[in-house]
Amino acid sequence: MNSLYGKDLITTQDWSVEELEKTLDLSFEFKANRYDHPLNNCLDRRTFFMFFYNPSVRTRQSFEAAATELGGHAQFLEPKSMRLKSAKTAGETVQDAAEVMSRYAVGIGIRILETALETYGQGDELLREYAQYATIPIVSMAHDRFHPCQGLADVMGYRMHAGKNLKGKKLVQVWAKGALVRSWSSVQESILLNSRLGMDVTLAHPKGYELDPEVIKWCEENAQRSDSTFEIVHDLEEAYKDADIVYSRNWMTSNFYDYVAKDNVDGAKSKEIQLASKYDDWICNKEWMSMTNNALFTHCGPVDRNAEVTDEVCDGPRSIVYDVAENRLHVQKAIMALTMGKQ
Ligand code: CP
Repeated sequence: MNSLYGKDLITTQDWSVEELEKTLDLSFEFKANRYDHPLNNCLDRRTFFMFFYNPSVRTRQSFEAAATELGGHAQFLEPKSMRLKSAKTAGETVQDAAEVMSRYAVGIGIRILETALETYGQGDELLREYAQYATIPIVSMAHDRFHPCQGLADVMGYRMHAGKNLKGKKLVQVWAKGALVRSWSSVQESILLNSRLGMDVTLAHPKGYELDPEVIKWCEENAQRSDSTFEIVHDLEEAYKDADIVYSRNWMTSNFYDYVAKDNVDGAKSKEIQLASKYDDWICNKEWMSMTNNALFTHCGPVDRNAEVTDEVCDGPRSIVYDVAENRLHVQKAIMALTMGKQ
């Protein structure tokens, strides 16, 4: 039995570098041999539950396609399709739901972020509670802290276009203005994983957009261990200068859930959009890209065009956004094959 069988994936930080490399190797194999890989039947007649508290284009469709391509089925679930206990309503406990779901399926994916939560960290706690009681793997499909499938798909894209050895290459994870008020999951996963795998990571944002201090501490430790660098800057010129990969993305301030508590979700979103609109320069455009080392442009999607990035860059020759979106499929096939596939 492979060492990943039965393992949860809540963040890549919980897996060893060897386990991540094994997953990436298999992802490349699935990409090269999409319909004829020897593991293509490893979910034969098996079900993967996809539990979505928030909407999705890529995650739902790529998981569903991935399960089909592995010979299994991905079943879509949302909170209203179940009767779960919450702080405000009576219902079934996570323990009971997790135990029962484990009798039907081989794995459970969960997405919970942004407006489905009342405080930062609640989504991570929920996934870890499912992981405590389920006897099958729990996979994050993006929650408030992390997005491991996205992080691995990003790395696969970088390796496709910049080579396997990314040591010494500069990744700029840069905040961008926008109206989507996004959780920190994709960004935190990206800086964690790439500092771990040896890229020089620069996190750039205006003051007030600080991320989770524990994640920042892990990034610093990752960079030290992998003999790379991790820095935080608040200046765009410093950020873009000599970058090899630019990942421009909006994220919410750390006050978002305080605004929700004070003024409901719509009020909190309006406040965030108003705050973000002050930062007109924080858009990835041709001028900023001209300061880079002919950098690749990436984004996890959905892209807020002409806010986070101009059409010219997003549709330009150095953009890898669609390859990265495709990689979600290959990476998730690899994760499912290794953690829950027939042994
Ligand atoms: N990147 C990502 O998770 O996209 P979706 O929200 O469309 O699933």
